[in-house]
Amino acid sequence: MTITPTISPLVLKAARAPKAELHIHIEGSLEPELIFALAQRNHVELAYASIEALRAAYAFTDLQSFLDIYYAGASVLLTEQDFYDMTMAYCERALADNVVHTEIFFDPQTHTERGVPIETVVAGIDRALADAEKRGLTSKLILCFLRHLSEADALATFDAALPLFARYPRMIGVGLDSSERGHPPSKFERVFAKARAQGLKLVAHAGEEGPPAYIYEALDLLKVDRVDHGVRSIEDKALVTRLADTRVALTVCPLSNLKLCVFDDMTKHTLKKLLDEGVAVTVNSDDPAYFGGYVNENFSAIITALQLDDQEVYTILRNSFEASFVTPEERAALIAKLDRYWSGAVA
Ligand code: ADE
Ligand code: ZN
Repeated sequence: MTITPTISPLVLKAARAPKAELHIHIEGSLEPELIFALAQRNHVELAYASIEALRAAYAFTDLQSFLDIYYAGASVLLTEQDFYDMTMAYCERALADNVVHTEIFFDPQTHTERGVPIETVVAGIDRALADAEKRGLTSKLILCFLRHLSEADALATFDAALPLFARYPRMIGVGLDSSERGHPPSKFERVFAKARAQGLKLVAHAGEEGPPAYIYEALDLLKVDRVDHGVRSIEDKALVTRLADTRVALTVCPLSNLKLCVFDDMTKHTLKKLLDEGVAVTVNSDDPAYFGGYVNENFSAIITALQLDDQEVYTILRNSFEASFVTPEERAALIAKLDRYWSGAVA
């Protein structure tokens, strides 16, 4: 006898709902199969003998143990077509999960330090996003600085990217990612000030592994519009109140937090506590190829583990549109689309 697990009606309702994804590293969407196909196409030698051996290495103990493999995976990306293929593969998965708007991070320094021009990276990603837009998926692109590298490197990257912000209207902001511990937001205050002076949107990973002090720095020194992860804010009551009062959203990634041992069990995830305190939390996939699921799997895992109810799931979905970098008119249309769906669907 085979036992088929039943999907809860609310998990199904969330899966079919229109949603925005606000925290996805495009290099983290590279599935092992595509890594091997690109390695072969580009004659890049990998440290793993097979797709299975690579997948078996995805047993992470913390953020750094993941990043080491993530950067190795990205080493197969060389041509514009590689960046196109990676991005289009993500868009297919996003469309299947009813993502109608996505705001994508990319890490140019991972590629420029291997001799791949930033123009190649952006051209390939943007061409795929333009094609996906014709199929109903709108998007923005956010350039992330690698925080384990120097401030000078970030400044040089920003200068090199400046003409691209003008050429690609989809590129609307900058972010900060990679190894958090020992690399506080303050290290990047000046490059964020330059980005702000250009009118760009600002986000930063903070409070994933790092302390609440890093979230304060992201808010006060970098002046970010959103905080990526931010789950450790729960350790500081005044910070939680401030996030709730100012409606600075957190882009939370439940499966990432579990895989990187931020929480040892999904039932211990703090998303519901943050939601109860009025913080604008959203649910996202981070690096879906590495953490065992795209956005709908993240919704499923967190709804099930924390026993979220209909209203809570609606609020999270609505937050994804509220916190996105679309125009007020686009936001209103997206929320109306969600409302039409939510009131018509039964959980
Ligand atoms: N780069 C890709 N995924 C990341 C994460 N979860 N935290 C920091 N940097 C990242
Ligand atoms: Zn991330």
